[in-house]
Amino acid sequence: PASAVAHPDGRLLVGGVALDELAERHGTPLYVLDEDEVRGRCRAYRDAFPEAEVHYAAKAFLCRALAHWVEEEGLGLDVCSAGELELAVTTGFPAERILLHGNAKSPEDLRAALRLGVGRIVIDNPAEIARIAAAVGPHARQKVLLRVTPGIGAGGHAKIRTGSDDQKFGLSLRDGHAQHAIARILDQPRLELTGLHCHLGSQITEVKPYLVAVRRLVGLMARTRDAHGVVLPELDLGGGHGIAYRPGDPALDLPALARRVHTELAVSCASAGLPVPRLLVEPGRAVVGPAGVAVYRVLAVKTTPERVFVAVDGGMSDNPRPALYGVRYAPRLIARPSTAPPRPVTVVGRHCEAGDILAAHVPLPADLRPGDLLALPAAGAYHLSMASSYNLIGRPPLVAVSAGTSRLLVRRETLDDLRARDVGL
Ligand code: LLP
Repeated sequence: PASAVAHPDGRLLVGGVALDELAERHGTPLYVLDEDEVRGRCRAYRDAFPEAEVHYAAKAFLCRALAHWVEEEGLGLDVCSAGELELAVTTGFPAERILLHGNAKSPEDLRAALRLGVGRIVIDNPAEIARIAAAVGPHARQKVLLRVTPGIGAGGHAKIRTGSDDQKFGLSLRDGHAQHAIARILDQPRLELTGLHCHLGSQITEVKPYLVAVRRLVGLMARTRDAHGVVLPELDLGGGHGIAYRPGDPALDLPALARRVHTELAVSCASAGLPVPRLLVEPGRAVVGPAGVAVYRVLAVKTTPERVFVAVDGGMSDNPRPALYGVRYAPRLIARPSTAPPRPVTVVGRHCEAGDILAAHVPLPADLRPGDLLALPAAGAYHLSMASSYNLIGRPPLVAVSAGTSRLLVRRETLDDLRARDVGL
């Protein structure tokens, strides 16, 4: 996190709180989230996109406190399940500032969305048009966006690229499916089509794909006006803004993105003779990712002919990202000074699986030993939210820090929690 301060004694403070103290108090593995940085990042989005609606993508991480911070900072919320939606609304998040996503929305998702009154539902496939229209009350009208694929390959890994036509989300611009769906939505008196949506993918570090998306979506808006006489007032560019996981990694330049998207939107709309639509963006990772850190304790150090393995007390259940996407992290020793020279080691987890590798071939001090603490930066997004209880290991707790104080937001999952679900025998 930006507030991280390394002391000469080796301790690392985040939000003014020493991580080793938090590790003592709450145990490890542990996630720590810097509240001021999350709020600062929300504000940076508001500043960069003053006229846009910024919807924080809850899938990156959601808990009640976070929903509250995001609400206070004036952002909206992008949710993709009844669970995320209910958590936010029961925390006091205004439903009209929430939009619901999903390529396969369950009956519960749609019921919750309509009952709670979400601002917009993003239609992802033709079958949803009639489903949503039938579920809307007799005197109501539901605002919807249509998710389209602009045919752009962008994003940090094949599994998180969603702008191309050949993946499960959205309708293609190229084969007429998007145009056909627009016509069908416009025919539904219970639905109000407010605009188009696309999400190109995640961990995008270049501005260019967003500009191409703007041009292609404005093109479809122009065709919609020509075919139906309807001017769509909104354009949602999704999220995907890339962050650095290691020092020196590229990250998306937010002010540059905002500036160039606004310019492209103005130019494209002017040449199409359209008014500039209201812009929506849905950053997830860029709001919380850099504000979080994971803390592990070293349990074993083992040398084989090929490499040195450093085994910690967490692993692929609290961070599946290296195994899933090959993401590279930069763990560092905290809590004690070391003058030992760095040597390459492979940090592995405690799960019964050889692929449980958190960081391969990373430099750590040669005197690393059991009991040491390691911090893994950039752990605020898609860590706890993707954690599992593989091997019946409970999910770690999450602590918020701010101005020298800490507070537990999510407690550790206990064996009792896990046993309570096992109702058979
Ligand atoms: N909007 C939509 C419709 C999305 O599907 C996503 C992410 C976002 C916004 C936010 O994307 P972000 O700004 O956070 O990149 N588990 C993967 C990431 C999957 C993202 C899925 N959708 C990871 O750990 O990298």
